[in-house]
Amino acid sequence: MITEVFLVNESSTDILKKAAALLQNGELVAIPTETVYGVGANALNKDACLNIFKAKGRPSDNPLIVHIHKPNDAEKIAVTNELYYKLAEKFMPGPLTIILPKKEVIPKEVTAGLDSVAIRCPAHPVANALIKIAGIPIAAPSANSSGKPSPTTAQHVFDDMDGKIPLILDGGECDVGVESTVVKITNEEIILLRPGAVTVKMLGEVCPNVSIANAVKEELKAGETPLSPGMKYKHYAPKASLYLVDDLHIDFIKFANEKQRTEKCAIMCYDEEILLLENKNLLPVGKRDDVKTQTKRLFNLLREADKLCVDTIYAHLPSDGGESLAMYNRMIRACAHRIIGGLNGEG
Ligand code: TXA
Ligand code: MG
Repeated sequence: MITEVFLVNESSTDILKKAAALLQNGELVAIPTETVYGVGANALNKDACLNIFKAKGRPSDNPLIVHIHKPNDAEKIAVTNELYYKLAEKFMPGPLTIILPKKEVIPKEVTAGLDSVAIRCPAHPVANALIKIAGIPIAAPSANSSGKPSPTTAQHVFDDMDGKIPLILDGGECDVGVESTVVKITNEEIILLRPGAVTVKMLGEVCPNVSIANAVKEELKAGETPLSPGMKYKHYAPKASLYLVDDLHIDFIKFANEKQRTEKCAIMCYDEEILLLENKNLLPVGKRDDVKTQTKRLFNLLREADKLCVDTIYAHLPSDGGESLAMYNRMIRACAHRIIGGLNGEG
């Protein structure tokens, strides 16, 4: 299959119509969103959705997120409640996914047999316009091959999906850079399953009863069933072994310079540290206090690290609170919990 790539914005009517027609015909289209790129299919067509699993090499027990044009559209596919609309008012369209009991129209292949469905209303103008034109809910996981970092540019999607899907819409680099916040809700409580740009504090302003699922910060215990199937998979793992260095207990510059002299390694450093480090295989992640930029660059840097042919990568251990929790969650999984200098780590 030839994979076409088109540069688009929300006014690229002809290309959006072409993409909508492909989706209506049961084909796959890669779509830019404000978080990461997704690979989409008609959420009401089980065969189309099964093809997503094939293209990604995704385990069939990991359910997909269904993307809608506006919060109200959830009525057709899920059982909503008051809290859903309160959250929607504040965070939709935007980087929040809400899990609700599903309705019959959503095939079980989309939800991996679960009786709940994940719903998201993306803020990216291209994604939002496309869903409106297509007139159907779009099931879309991140558009990476399973196990690779989520794609934040059309080039990343092309690297993973060339020859597997007919069309990639290139809407530029994603703004947020990590996937949406995923929550499971009842009318009275919110459980955070995956941290993202909508933080625990922001959720707490809508509902005081917010808890964080264990798997967000910790490794699953043997035999433990996660609330979200995606939590049990090793994600975002670069080829080289990634280590996180707790810089509260270790002098990062001294540590990194020593490693660079003795190992084939890359260093994910803060921008301010560039001049203090040996000038090789540096992956600057952003300024120390600029968590937004660090988050936005993270997945691209993990892909860049793979091109460097190094054995190890050393990075700062991010803080596990506030807006940094999303980055912490992705990095501890990418490093398989290898933390140096931390209380529960090596060194
Ligand atoms: O930002 C995003 O959310 C991107 C863009 C494309 O929208 N999508 C995305 O999809 O990250 P994916 O499939 O890579 O991640 C979906 C996560 C998985 O961890 C999955 O297990 C979980 O959401 N999930 C989906 N449906 C669920 C359900 N019914 N119950 C629990 N977890 C669910
Ligand atoms: Mg994914």
